[in-house]
Amino acid sequence: MNTFSRITGTGSYLPEKILSNKDLESMVDTSDQWIRERTGIVKRHIAADGQTTCDLAQQAAQLAIEAAGKTPREIDLIVVATTTPDKVFPSTACLLQQRLNANGCAAFDVQAVCTGFIYALSVADKFVSTGAAHCALVVGAETFSRVVDWTDRSTCVLFGDGAGAVVLEASEVQGILSSHLHADGAYENLLHVPGGISRGFDLADTEGDPRYTHMKGNEVFKMAVNTLGRIVDETLNANGMKKSDVDWLVPHQANIRIINATARKLNISMEKVVVTVDQHGNTSAASVPLALDTAVRDGRIQRDEVLLLEAFGGGFTWGSVLLRY
Ligand code: UT7
Repeated sequence: MNTFSRITGTGSYLPEKILSNKDLESMVDTSDQWIRERTGIVKRHIAADGQTTCDLAQQAAQLAIEAAGKTPREIDLIVVATTTPDKVFPSTACLLQQRLNANGCAAFDVQAVCTGFIYALSVADKFVSTGAAHCALVVGAETFSRVVDWTDRSTCVLFGDGAGAVVLEASEVQGILSSHLHADGAYENLLHVPGGISRGFDLADTEGDPRYTHMKGNEVFKMAVNTLGRIVDETLNANGMKKSDVDWLVPHQANIRIINATARKLNISMEKVVVTVDQHGNTSAASVPLALDTAVRDGRIQRDEVLLLEAFGGGFTWGSVLLRY
């Protein structure tokens, strides 16, 4: 009999400190009205000084493990999607493993920026459905505020910190139906942090500070809308499903206008779209599992419903997971 993988628990965590649109008005030349109208964001959460990506990941992971009725010792794979790791090495997954006392299992990070959780979930599904793992912890966690230039209004209003996690277990029932991953490195410079460990941070060829996120917002926006529209078709076609078969769209939370466009493409009413971007802005790899956990815990998403998870981000990377919850 084939082994499938299925989500058995979800969790999420947002740091305590809140930065509102009003707060941003006193930091850069922006307004609450502009941010709400152009992005849908009302506030974002910011990690405290000294609070790291692993700290956020740990909170979300513990909740997911508890919801799945598991103990950390039963976890046999940890995949963490992050762009903002605590250390250059070891991976945040290894740090998390030690924190959870889940020692001994495979643990590694995946880096696909905002599409990171979709990549991580797809990788974990491959492990579980081939029998290489039985109980995987999949986390998306970011302290993206650390790579934001807080004097640049074109980016600083958009991002925030957070973490989300799921436990993915071997199952006779097919949970994950399919996953679809893509990347096109030709768009490297439209959304990137130019500096890095190998290139260094003292870069003569860079306008602005190479430590922080640079984005050509409008071009990214158009690409995101078109690409996510295409991936809806790709995902449904691969499963022989119709748009009306999808119960919930759980999209990457970057901009309400991008989410609206994907919902229109899917012909799904906004009541069936999980929107949390207003509450925490773009948390990169954390945003899809944050939205998923929110709608599971408030009772909107029910067992056996069909969910379409999708994301688009730096790379460019984009992808989707279709699953029966
Ligand atoms: O996670 C995946 C990657 N990220 C994304 O998906 C983000 C994609 N991009 C976006 O969400 C949108 O492009 C933004 C929200 C970043 C910008 O919205 P936009 O409608 O594309 O605005 P724009 O960049 O075309 O700028 C419109 C105007 C400009 O002024 P002028 O030239 O028309 O006078 C900007 O200077 O808005 C101005 N502007 C701002 N005004 C107030 C840009 N940022 C701000 C701001 N406050 N924070």
